[in-house]
Amino acid sequence: ATTTDIFRPALHYSAGSTWLNDPNGLIHHDGVYHLYYQNNPLDSVWGNLSWGHATSADLLTWTERPVAISCDEKEDIFSGSIVFDRHNTSGFGQDGTAPLVAIYTSAFKAASGLEGIQAQSLAYSLDGGYTWTKHTGNPVLNRNSAEFRDPKVIRYSGPSGDYWVMVAVEAKDFQVVLYKSHDLKSWEYLSTFGPANATGGVWECPDLFPLPLDGDPNNVQWVLIVNLNPGGPNLGSAGQYFVGDFDGTTFSSATTVTEGHQDSERLREYRWLDWGRDYYAAVSFADVPDNRKLTIAWMNNWEYANSIPTSPWRSPMSLVRELTLQTVDGEAHLIQQPAGDWAALDAPVANFSLPETAISQGTTILDGAAGTVQRIDVSWTPGTAEEFGVVVRGEGGQGTRIGVRPAEGTLVVDRRESGQTDFHETFASIDTAPIRLMDGHYKLTLFVDRCSVEVFAQGGQVTMTELIFPSPTSKDVSVYALGGSATINSLHISQYA
Ligand code: FRU
Repeated sequence: ATTTDIFRPALHYSAGSTWLNDPNGLIHHDGVYHLYYQNNPLDSVWGNLSWGHATSADLLTWTERPVAISCDEKEDIFSGSIVFDRHNTSGFGQDGTAPLVAIYTSAFKAASGLEGIQAQSLAYSLDGGYTWTKHTGNPVLNRNSAEFRDPKVIRYSGPSGDYWVMVAVEAKDFQVVLYKSHDLKSWEYLSTFGPANATGGVWECPDLFPLPLDGDPNNVQWVLIVNLNPGGPNLGSAGQYFVGDFDGTTFSSATTVTEGHQDSERLREYRWLDWGRDYYAAVSFADVPDNRKLTIAWMNNWEYANSIPTSPWRSPMSLVRELTLQTVDGEAHLIQQPAGDWAALDAPVANFSLPETAISQGTTILDGAAGTVQRIDVSWTPGTAEEFGVVVRGEGGQGTRIGVRPAEGTLVVDRRESGQTDFHETFASIDTAPIRLMDGHYKLTLFVDRCSVEVFAQGGQVTMTELIFPSPTSKDVSVYALGGSATINSLHISQYA
């Protein structure tokens, strides 16, 4: 098999034979989920930035479509969002068909006369998102900045009125800038948020949305997502978030603990969407039925993005997650669950279960549990062990270890022996996240999909997402305890390929 086949994920989107980075323009429209993304249609490395396109009905199986918005001699098409302009406020609609409008960053080249400027531009679609026309009046919002990008537009409706709101970044100033518009074409400045919390790298790809706290429609709070690169909790790219309020003009954060701090000692005080190495540029889908808040991220890290060993395609997207806001220890936190219509997939090709089992010092391979595309649900009760957990994609000395150290309160993903790691000096890593006992247990849900491991711990309170590049024959699943014993309450594995 080629490297492409070995690492090609089954349950995650990857482009057929080209480069991708950030998800863009996420929207549910006419019963279809649309995923656009930063794409190099001509190569396996970053460049020629255009919007690639894929569609899905179940959020687990995706169909690649033709490139939606192409770069040209004047501009690269950087990240942005799409809205359904149902009342045709933009005037792009025709013959009663309301347009989808893409708001993207023009990264201008020499031929434009605006070389080096990043400004916001529009394109529209009248056929449900398959073909796009650039607006002749682009750019529509220009601050003469070289670092003004990644517009996410939402429809705001509140005491101050009903209008479009854009959040975008001034990347090097660690700022999110907010604008408002009635027609998507002329924009009025509202306010600026930041610097705040993590500022160890440029701020990119923001998102702003309301969520009811603990499902209470009378207690709606606002979440501001700010991706940053580098400066994440385990090196490189990552996404932080703030919880607070948005009054139609200003976002005020209730979770700011520093006015921007690069000290790595403080990173654990901030809110992270994911503590792993490979979860970047996460943003949410527009117009999902029942107001569900769904996100997807680029499963890679700018540290080594262009050198992961999967050519000619390069980088998968993450699984889609559903976000809710829940009170944990008196504070509002995002809780993340795998989304997607798993019931729509073919039934698992195999299932494996373990009843309650005491695990003593050592590592045990689970007979009949081997695989490369798996969902693993495991619940532990801690005992005397310093660490216990699961090893996936194992064989001989190879494997990726996902463990809990109860005394330290850490979740560990160790990919030092995960397979190919030498393509970049910072790839082989042991990464950690804070984790706390819940009702006497540690519950982990792991998704293994050929070149990745995604961990949802404690019902989605903590997540860690990491790429791995194991040998195709490394398929064993083991359980282990170090320095004592621990008890598995239950373990279930579904094999999907
Ligand atoms: C984030 C990012 C964005 C930019 C895009 C360019 O990964 O740097 O800020 O719009 O990628 O591909």
